[in-house]
Amino acid sequence: MENNDMRQIQWFPGHMAKTRRLIAANLKLVDAVTEIVDARAPLSSRNPEMDRMTSGKPRLVLLNKCDLADDKATQMWINYFRNNGAEAIAVDCKSGKGLKNMLPTIKNKVLKELMEKREKHGMTGAPVRLMIVGIPNVGKSSLINRLAGSKRAKVEDRPGVTRTKQWVKLDNNTELLDMPGVLWPKFEDQDVAVRLAFTGAISDDILDIETLAMKLLKFMAENYPQSLKERYKIDIDEEDTGLVLLEKVGKKRGMMISGGEINTERAAITVLDEFRSGKLGRITLELPPKKEQPCQE
Ligand code: G4P
Repeated sequence: MENNDMRQIQWFPGHMAKTRRLIAANLKLVDAVTEIVDARAPLSSRNPEMDRMTSGKPRLVLLNKCDLADDKATQMWINYFRNNGAEAIAVDCKSGKGLKNMLPTIKNKVLKELMEKREKHGMTGAPVRLMIVGIPNVGKSSLINRLAGSKRAKVEDRPGVTRTKQWVKLDNNTELLDMPGVLWPKFEDQDVAVRLAFTGAISDDILDIETLAMKLLKFMAENYPQSLKERYKIDIDEEDTGLVLLEKVGKKRGMMISGGEINTERAAITVLDEFRSGKLGRITLELPPKKEQPCQE
């Protein structure tokens, strides 16, 4: 993507350094790390340093918002993380779907060795402690609210808001360490930023909304043409640019301004809203790196 498409993004590097230190300091208090990512863009929605930061700790990756992602792609991502040393499951923290698998997966798979050791030493009652990490907007608060059954995890992990770490009790012997602070995704990669802007994880004012919608429409035309055709009842030609597609959507929806011009800004807002709410279909924005793709099916 062209650099000039994007406005300057403020990345708060100071907050990152603090979060990194906090994670490092608290790792010794937990048995495993649960990392929550967006199933629609599982690599773009993680902090690139997470593997290094948590190395040595058993890990579970939660592919959240799986209700909005392409099932087949989600399965590929589960395999990808499993091939790369972490357990992974798909969840939907909005409805709670898949969450019942979380603790059994942790106890029977992620921490299998620890559990067996504890059993052998008659320590089965000892608490299991988990650290939960994720970049803003992936659904960390929704997850904790679902698991803990209360509204204690507020959406406060924003720059400038100080909050101390808190332990959240999940059941009689499981505790979750909700880490304060902001973990950012990979800033320097513009494609990453665009995927996160599509999902709404990065605010719209980082990118011009029409540019963003045009990029999304082009991606849809190339990867999910059927969903695009069905949603907007438009024809798609291979040569259609993002602008042409945006105009087709606007025209079809009757979004005109005086003089017969198409209101592309309104069309852009509609396209992005409909993508984010799942009305454009279940769409995954990136697939695992080629060499990691499973040779199944
Ligand atoms: P955070 O703590 O990591 O910053 O994220 P948070 O839980 O606040 O979730 C961010 C947004 O993502 C929320 O939407 C939330 O409802 C939505 N969300 C979280 N998990 C899922 C999921 O599995 N599926 C879907 N479809 N959405 C999910 P919002 O628009 O900010 O708020 P609201 O819609 O809850 O009012």
